[in-house]
Amino acid sequence: MKTSTYAICMGKRGAIALLIMLMAIASVMLQSLPAYAFEISQASPEQVYTYRRPSSDGIGKIYMGREISQVMGHRGAGWLERSSRRQEERPWKIVDALELNPSDTVVDLGAGTGYLTFQLAPEVPQGKVLAVDIQPEMLDMLTAAQQRHGIENVEPILATVDNPHLPLGVDYVLMVDAYHEFEFPREVMKSVIKSLNPGGRVVLAEYRGENPFLAIKRLHKMTERQVKKELKSVGLEWIKTEEQLPRQHLLFFQKPES
Ligand SMILES: C[S@@+](CC[C@H](N)C(=O)[O-])C[C@H]1O[C@@H](n2cnc3c(N)ncnc32)[C@H](O)[C@@H]1O
Repeated sequence: MKTSTYAICMGKRGAIALLIMLMAIASVMLQSLPAYAFEISQASPEQVYTYRRPSSDGIGKIYMGREISQVMGHRGAGWLERSSRRQEERPWKIVDALELNPSDTVVDLGAGTGYLTFQLAPEVPQGKVLAVDIQPEMLDMLTAAQQRHGIENVEPILATVDNPHLPLGVDYVLMVDAYHEFEFPREVMKSVIKSLNPGGRVVLAEYRGENPFLAIKRLHKMTERQVKKELKSVGLEWIKTEEQLPRQHLLFFQKPES
């Protein structure tokens, strides 16, 4: 090949490589754009939710500037139980951070297969874990695992999309990768607050929405700012955000004492 032809070929290849790189960067940037950049209807103060054309992983329902994500179906249960999860997410750090008392009543809201539920249960030997989900199939898997391991202090609760059906007297509500899926976040959180004891805590683990390179679908991540905005708006007090998890924020809130 003559030098001039070779140079032209390299030039073409280089241009194609550059184009691919630019498209990859553009796709990451688009993924990280906030939902409100595409919002087509504005909420009036009395209107809690507005609607738009759904994004690929959303339901087209906007709450406080965020599009609510699709629910992860029970067919994705294998992903929740994947063997690499312990190493990737270090879930024991979530459990340690809660500093539970042995007699606490803890809610695992959006429990799925019970991945967190069964790590919480040994921490509350005189208390219990209420494992709440809207998908009966998830609760069936959770109950089967509970029976297999003979765990007695776990109570599955079938929720509806706007009501977790919790009893009164709850000390802690944990939501791991779940809150962003709630179709009625305001109604669910108001109901959670009613069930919590004064000073009771709400803790969320959410994939960091600030990181566009985190390989999780855009609407399945949340920024710290957005979580705080939404939970403060229902009357919860923000206590702290911990960043010891590799991929998730851990946000702590409290029901006011009075
Ligand atoms: C991504 S999964 C996470 C499951 C579990 N927390 C874990 O980390 O393994 C989210 C779960 O939240 C549940 N969910 C969605 N909306 C809910 C709601 N309004 N009330 C209770 N659970 C809900 C879904 O059915 C799903 O099982």
